[in-house]
Amino acid sequence: MSSDFPDAASLAARIPHDFTLGVATSSWQIEGSSETRGRSIWDEFAETPGRVLDGATADPACDHLAHIPEDLDLIHDLGVNAYRFSFSWPRLLHNGVGSPSAKGLDTYDRLVDGILGRGLTPFATLYHWDLPQALQERGGWLNPDSHQWFAEYAALVADHFGDRIDTVATLNEPWVSAFLGYAAGVHAPGVTNPAQSLEVFYRLMVASGYGIQALRSAGITNPGLVLNLTTVIAEDEDVTPQAHLIDGLHNRMFLDLLAGRGVPEDVQEHTQSITDWSFVTDEGLALAAEKIDWLGINYYTPIRVASVSADAGKIVGQSASVYPGVSGVSFVPHEPRTAMGWEIHAPSLTSTLVTTAERLPGVPLYITENGAAFDDVVSSEGIHDANRVAYYRDHLHAAFDAVDHGVDLRGYFAWSLFDNLEWAEGWTKRFGIVRVDADSQTRTPKDSARFLRDVFRSRG
Ligand code: FCB
Repeated sequence: MSSDFPDAASLAARIPHDFTLGVATSSWQIEGSSETRGRSIWDEFAETPGRVLDGATADPACDHLAHIPEDLDLIHDLGVNAYRFSFSWPRLLHNGVGSPSAKGLDTYDRLVDGILGRGLTPFATLYHWDLPQALQERGGWLNPDSHQWFAEYAALVADHFGDRIDTVATLNEPWVSAFLGYAAGVHAPGVTNPAQSLEVFYRLMVASGYGIQALRSAGITNPGLVLNLTTVIAEDEDVTPQAHLIDGLHNRMFLDLLAGRGVPEDVQEHTQSITDWSFVTDEGLALAAEKIDWLGINYYTPIRVASVSADAGKIVGQSASVYPGVSGVSFVPHEPRTAMGWEIHAPSLTSTLVTTAERLPGVPLYITENGAAFDDVVSSEGIHDANRVAYYRDHLHAAFDAVDHGVDLRGYFAWSLFDNLEWAEGWTKRFGIVRVDADSQTRTPKDSARFLRDVFRSRG
């Protein structure tokens, strides 16, 4: 197949047989139609002045629910074999618990049937951060019953969709829910309480394990979990201990719970003055260690720390406030960087995959998100996002380098299909391979979409 992108064929030649290729989205970021569901913590957050940079709220987002067939055709046209989306919990259960919404079930029936009808495999996520507000009012993830609410929701999804879906992730990036939501307070529910953030981390992992059990007993054959993992790099020797602690809070703590090793001792030690961890129980640890069939990794950028006080400024996810117990370090991403301020460093994707495979042996890995925001230039001839094309090219190569190192990597999903509501950044940060104009709702594939299509379609 001829391509405008000379690199496409050599990249395609590296794609392993049976590899899953897809694009990813999430409910709150694209769906719109908030009037037909219950409220979520992100509605509450986004409607609070000053929380979202440009004041964007859930509507219209990409008005996706009004465009399901057209959007699925677009996805199919990319030559992918899978689509990763998330269910909105408050769309299925307006108050988080109780009887399901018939309209919500019907919406996702249309979506799932449309995915299958185009020969694509659905990769569903139960929780991509849009907790029903009614549950937040009952304590949210700090409520010791939260794992029960979550398991009931998981069972509902499994009972209704299990005849058509095998692969379901419980949570998307519990690190973000816990630490951006409860330590830095820059995500919903906007709390700045480090002790609570550590408890939320633990309760989310318990809920995930309990959710895995619920999914499996209701017939879901391939349940998993999605974490945002990365490589932490100490720029000078003075910060080696702090970098190790950041690695603990970002990566090890999640993988250790999954692997049955409990909360890492050094993390407990360094957070002693923040919490006594008395909420941890043997029963909870056993649930959090429930076997997963696969682990999804969302990777964007490494974390570089230094002792100099030359902090790079406000960068989402990169400040000491996000890491309870960490102080006296600066976050110093190198150039080149994306519009998020995140350093572009593909070798850190390879090292993240290799290290994760060592820390959690025997669990197949997927890259469930990878991509970049740039300030696109839109012209009448299209959107020539050469920087995003290069990002995808280099990171796909880095992923296959990990395969060459023996990592059992089964798939790759680009984040994201669309420009969408980038959480607290609103529309100001665009991650799409397809441009979406929020006013006209026009979808325009960028060069990066054409590049990925050429790679995906020319696989052997
Ligand atoms: C991840 C989220 C996803 C998107 C990307 C840029 O942390 O899972 O929804 O916001 O970052």
